[in-house]
Amino acid sequence: MKFLKLILVLLFIAVPLVASAEKAKTIDELAKMYDSSSCKSCHAEIYAQWEKSHHARPLMGVKGGLMLTPLALKKGEKGATAFSEDDPKKMKIKNYPCFKCHLPQAVTSAEDSVAVELTEALLAKDSAKVGKLQITCIVCHNEKAIIHKRELGEPKKDVLYGKKDVASHMDAKFKKVEKSAIMKDSVFCGQCHGTGPNFEFDQAFQCANLYGSYLHSYVSGGGTKTCQDCHMQKGDHLIAPNWNDQKATEELLSKAISLDIETLGYEWLKKAGALVPKIVVGTKITTTAGHRIPDG
Ligand code: HEC
Ligand code: HEC
Ligand code: HEC
Ligand code: HEC
Ligand code: HEC
Repeated sequence: MKFLKLILVLLFIAVPLVASAEKAKTIDELAKMYDSSSCKSCHAEIYAQWEKSHHARPLMGVKGGLMLTPLALKKGEKGATAFSEDDPKKMKIKNYPCFKCHLPQAVTSAEDSVAVELTEALLAKDSAKVGKLQITCIVCHNEKAIIHKRELGEPKKDVLYGKKDVASHMDAKFKKVEKSAIMKDSVFCGQCHGTGPNFEFDQAFQCANLYGSYLHSYVSGGGTKTCQDCHMQKGDHLIAPNWNDQKATEELLSKAISLDIETLGYEWLKKAGALVPKIVVGTKITTTAGHRIPDG
């Protein structure tokens, strides 16, 4: 009996230890857990495209803006948000609901100490540290690759998910690639590109909801293309637009947006002998995008 008790006690001590050992305590540990640098040697072109993409800098904002800073500010301070606390040490993962889409691995794999370290880094404007947190290859090709978890289970730790099965994949850690049920579909992107306000938090708020616009405007209007068809031609992982590259973005937008103007000039005979010049300008702006632009 005593022996059984001892085993039970040990079990209770061991379980939380194991559970916490699986989660990252620091930004470096979290970055390492999802580190994709091993993919570079074989998938060099895709890696170079991804490195320039917004997915590689999801907490940096456009032009390195460190856009999570308002949450890191002290409660009551000018610019602070409802998610802010009066002491950076009190910040927890749930104080950053943004992680749902900007850094999903923080929700599943990070301790609250990561939120404290991030808060301190944001306040110190430590871009190098914040920039370590990325939507890496592993976030998309493992963590976000399965959405029907009741039927298909959680993503396996040593398996990547792609467009097809690869029985022996040469990566040192990910020895196999399995076909994902959603990788080629818009719903894959929809996980983060938003359907509307985020009601599940104790303080609802809204960020991206472009996937909502895609479903309720484009698809319902007869659109047939997927996000990947338009944004990832030939597997392009830049997934443009890249707002930091102004020239390329201007080119993309000028191809995508057209402005038709029709004008009619006439003179209005207000009363005998009094002609008033008038103009009617009709404008029509159309886009080839599969959703509203801009989003947000
Ligand atoms: C040693 C070389 C090597 C490394 C390292 C490597 N890969 Fe691969 N990977 C390949 C090769 C070769 C294929 C293609 C196999 C085929 O087509 O039969 C492949 C296939 C894939 C596929 C499936 C492609 C598809 O059509 O869906 C994905 C996804 C993938 N790799 C992702 C990664 C990621 C992510 C990493 C880093 C964690 C990585 N690979 C590291 C060589 C490598
Ligand atoms: C539903 C998923 C989702 C949530 C939750 C979310 N975001 Fe976003 N956010 C996105 C996506 C996707 C983009 C980029 C695409 C777009 O704007 O359409 C984006 C873009 C942004 C941008 C503009 C681009 C930039 O990098 O400067 C800011 C700022 C931003 N988010 C801040 C936040 C903050 C702060 C929170 C938390 C309070 C948050 N977001 C929560 C998905 C989300
Ligand atoms: C934002 C999510 C996302 C990220 C980040 C991402 N991928 Fe992909 N990847 C996809 C999607 C979606 C597809 C399927 C595209 C399609 O339908 O053609 C894909 C396709 C691929 C393929 C197959 C390409 C082909 O043309 O057949 C390989 C290989 C691959 N990814 C490797 C990588 C590597 C390596 C990285 C990191 C450098 C990476 N991916 C990062 C979403 C992502
Ligand atoms: C894990 C969540 C996630 C997934 C999955 C994802 N994205 Fe994103 N995406 C984001 C976030 C967050 C940003 C904004 C990063 C920033 O702040 O600059 C973004 C940025 C972008 C941008 C750059 C434009 C902009 O406004 O920032 C495009 C285009 C884009 N995503 C398209 C896609 C497509 C297409 C897919 C599917 C193949 C996809 N994304 C999958 C989270 C995601
Ligand atoms: C029919 C083609 C098409 C489809 C389908 C499509 N897009 Fe776009 N998207 C565009 C075009 C065109 C733009 C304008 C800039 C450009 O050319 O990249 C754009 C812009 C964007 C932007 C920048 C938004 C902004 O604020 O200006 C994001 C993010 C994005 N798309 C994500 C997605 C996602 C996620 C999906 C799927 C749910 C999707 N797109 C489906 C063509 C498409």
